[in-house]
Amino acid sequence: MKDAPAAGSVTITVDDRELQVPEGITVAAAVLGHAHAGRTYIHPVDNSPRAPYCLMGVCFECLMEINGEPDVQSCLISVEEGMIIKRQLQHEEVN
Ligand code: FES
Repeated sequence: MKDAPAAGSVTITVDDRELQVPEGITVAAAVLGHAHAGRTYIHPVDNSPRAPYCLMGVCFECLMEINGEPDVQSCLISVEEGMIIKRQLQHEEVN
């Protein structure tokens, strides 16, 4: 049986790993706060790893798949209980 989320937090899943994060933060902030997940996607042109940069919807370095929708600017979306998030690392081997 799973533990209930702590008060003031929600449980999200990032690449099949459950994380408890503070409610009200953005998906980008949640991902940056966990060492295993810092990168969000691999740039399709040069295969360079990318991570959230501006955190205000300008740079598009934070694209992630959120609840099945790809290429979402994760810095503009607040975490929600049960949210399924995938990093877009198709050009990189994930360990
Ligand atoms: S971090 Fe720049 S658009 Fe999201």
